[in-house]
Amino acid sequence: MAAIFPKSSDLILKVLGAVVGLGAVAGVGAYTYYTYPTVIDTGYQPVQPVPYSHKLHAGQLGLDCFYCHSTVYKAAYAAIPPTQTCMNCHTKVKTDSPRLEPVRQSFKTGQPIPWVLIHRLPDFVYFNHEAHVTAGVSCVSCHGRIDQMIEVHQDKPLNMAFCLACHKDPAPNIRPAELVTKLDWIPDRDPREIGSEIIARKHLNPPTNCSGCHR
Ligand code: HEC
Ligand code: HEC
Ligand code: HEC
Ligand code: HEC
Ligand code: HEC
Repeated sequence: MAAIFPKSSDLILKVLGAVVGLGAVAGVGAYTYYTYPTVIDTGYQPVQPVPYSHKLHAGQLGLDCFYCHSTVYKAAYAAIPPTQTCMNCHTKVKTDSPRLEPVRQSFKTGQPIPWVLIHRLPDFVYFNHEAHVTAGVSCVSCHGRIDQMIEVHQDKPLNMAFCLACHKDPAPNIRPAELVTKLDWIPDRDPREIGSEIIARKHLNPPTNCSGCHR
């Protein structure tokens, strides 16, 4: 577990490490309530009900994206974690912080935290996380450096031209699948070479025909 918190040898973080291990096994089902934004735009950054920071949790504490977004590997949908996931730690850490009051309330009442959804494609577009993540497309290609964001904003346009640019030439954006959540990964040789090898081995073939994305 030590590797999860490389920057600290604090006792509390070691304890947390153990808790995280248990949580990763137990915390599966995700219950989320969303209010949908009416626009999807680069830079979109709504105010969230809890000042949750990816920079702190994913960046400084080093929690893997999968710890909270556990469905990305096996579903179209990436799912926001249920309150239980937060409480794996926050029953012990910052237990009287006023910033965590909505989290404690949610845990007590069973009402999900009303996170505001940021990324949203129109209904006539088909998208699937699993297909991309297992192919070796990193979160960073489509969401930017989430691990450096205090509040998440939409970093890429996610429009048709953006999708097609990669589908026509995916090689520079394909990496070994186990590295997709390492947003700061630096390839040790030409990324296009690495990507081309993986594409050939896995027979990857992103659709560029209309019905591939408009089903
Ligand atoms: C400790 C739990 C946790 C971890 C670890 C975590 N996230 Fe999140 N993530 C959340 C929560 C809670 C939200 C909803 C609130 C928000 O948008 O900040 C969220 C929102 C997001 C969103 C925006 C979703 C939307 O509304 O469209 C993206 C994208 C995202 N996370 C990507 C990542 C990536 C990439 C990583 C790994 C670098 C990561 N997350 C790690 C809990 C987590
Ligand atoms: C692996 C343990 C862990 C998990 C899981 C976790 N946190 Fe945290 N969280 C921490 C630690 C450690 C701190 C920083 C405490 C400090 O500043 O000393 C923190 C700080 C916070 C703070 C700032 C509190 C303050 O008063 O400054 C908020 C808000 C927060 N977390 C929300 C969440 C939410 C929401 C979730 C679930 C999506 C979550 N956390 C999941 C460990 C965790
Ligand atoms: C190929 C681009 C792409 C990659 C790679 C990608 N995402 Fe997404 N993500 C999207 C798009 C597009 C949406 C909006 C989906 C929609 O509206 O159907 C989204 C939405 C989300 C959401 C909001 C919930 C949802 O599913 O709508 C979260 C959380 C998220 N992504 C996390 C991640 C994480 C974590 C990774 C890496 C493990 C990742 N994404 C990799 C494009 C991507
Ligand atoms: C950075 C590269 C990249 C970006 C950006 C990207 N894709 Fe893909 N996409 C891929 C790769 C690689 C595959 C091929 C997977 C395979 O062959 O197994 C793929 C496959 C797909 C598939 C077929 C998967 C299936 O389940 O049938 C769809 C649909 C798709 N992408 C839609 C989109 C949409 C919509 C966007 C924009 C929001 C997008 N992609 C952005 C790389 C990308
Ligand atoms: C790789 C995925 C992908 C493929 C392939 C694709 N589209 Fe799209 N298309 C999208 C996305 C994503 C949007 C949503 C754009 C937005 O929200 O700005 C979109 C939007 C559209 C729109 C709505 C107008 C607009 O530009 O926003 C039309 C019309 C359209 N596509 C037609 C087509 C046709 C015709 C083809 C075949 C030549 C095609 N698409 C192939 C992903 C794709």
